[in-house]
Amino acid sequence: MDKFVIRGGTPLQGTLRISGAKNSALPCMAAAILTEDEVALENIPDVRDIETERKLLVSMGAEVELGYGRAHHRTRIRCALLSDPVAKYEIVKTMRASSLVLGPLIARTGMARVAMPGGCAIGGRPIDLHIKALQAMGAEITQEHGYLEARAKRLRGAHIVFDKITVTGTEDLLMAAVLAEGETRMENCAREPEVTDLAKLLIAMGAQIEGAGTSTIRVRGVEKLHGAKHRIHPDRIETGTFLVAGAITGGDLTLTGCNPDHLSAVIEKLREVGVQCDLAADSIRVRTPGRLRCANISTEEYPGFPTDMQAQFMALATQAEGTSLVTENIFENRFMHVQELIRMGAHIRVDGRTAAVLGRSPLSAAAVMASDLRASASLVLAALVAEGETIIDRVYHIDRGYERIEEKLRGVGAKIRRIGNVFRESEETAVHVTA
Ligand code: EPZ
Repeated sequence: MDKFVIRGGTPLQGTLRISGAKNSALPCMAAAILTEDEVALENIPDVRDIETERKLLVSMGAEVELGYGRAHHRTRIRCALLSDPVAKYEIVKTMRASSLVLGPLIARTGMARVAMPGGCAIGGRPIDLHIKALQAMGAEITQEHGYLEARAKRLRGAHIVFDKITVTGTEDLLMAAVLAEGETRMENCAREPEVTDLAKLLIAMGAQIEGAGTSTIRVRGVEKLHGAKHRIHPDRIETGTFLVAGAITGGDLTLTGCNPDHLSAVIEKLREVGVQCDLAADSIRVRTPGRLRCANISTEEYPGFPTDMQAQFMALATQAEGTSLVTENIFENRFMHVQELIRMGAHIRVDGRTAAVLGRSPLSAAAVMASDLRASASLVLAALVAEGETIIDRVYHIDRGYERIEEKLRGVGAKIRRIGNVFRESEETAVHVTA
């Protein structure tokens, strides 16, 4: 298994380009199921979850061309025939987001068999809200042998009120509704930019959607969708992670190709702790002129502080003067990074959903273990300021959602290298699901 070896202590300096958003690209790839025409997506990040989704679509009968580098991080997907509308366990177990194919498969083919995703490192991750809403649209859903089977000749519009805000649930149902008969009104929807990005693609494919990005979305179902071309928006969590990298190392970093509007809550917190963020239309420059100060964060649905930035902020809080309280409200078990940070010298006490981070602690290098995508990112950030050489094991977690993070960081001065083979097939079976 690959490991990262990181020697801390270098302030990061220079310019770093942000990739396309994994959590937008995944639903947008699933949306290609809704048409027999070609869907072309640009700014696709070169991360492992995207490759998993490609395999998933191919296993169902889709033609998927995926190219990086000179191929401009692009994918072309054609689901002319979906001969096998089944999301197999072998694929679903490595990527939670596979439940995103449920809605589009029923909408397009009238039937879907999707392996139930198991639990994962950050919590139970049920999909009951997807199921309840699809049933309200007329789908008959049964569960057997670890698979959900859903059938509906044609879904019909419904009034759906999500009991809880769910990002992929909103996306899944949006994709189901666009081909349903009649109007669907969805309330208490997720307002994440990834939902808006998906809606943009669906509208380009001929869907009639109003209100994406607000908590009420209205969809008027159409008979058929056509192909479209769409550019995936920048990854706000990769951006936030590198903002923290600049801040924690006392560096001077400029992130380009990003969208500062999607990061208001994160930027506000960084400013509160003493980080200078200079914003332009599609770039952010980050510097830390003085000492970092403590601040409290409490994760919330968008536009609140994202759960996907909680672990990274905690790494930063270890370097701030005073005690920061970090409250995780979205997932019940998203403090897996705490014990590893403690092994590096951090002082953190967890009480239920809140962690008290006592700063400022000098961190020292240690051998640590990545447990999920964002937890891994927080260990990389901590290692960048730790004294000595940190070894992070199981970096396949980070490869699922960050495009060549070690190359990007090395480009701005970090002393980081990968040891082991990149993307070895055998690791896939050992992957613990987090997205
Ligand atoms: C998405 O997961 C993201 N994944 C996650 O990013 C992110 O952490 C999360 O949203 C929250 O922002 C993708 O977009 C692929 P939810 P998702 O449904 O949609 C509960 C990363 O690091 N819930 O919004 O699966 C659930 O247990 C990943 O990139 C139900 O109870 O999250 C959680 O407590 C990790 N029943 C809460 O809702 C359901 O049917 C929010 O989950 C669905 C969700």
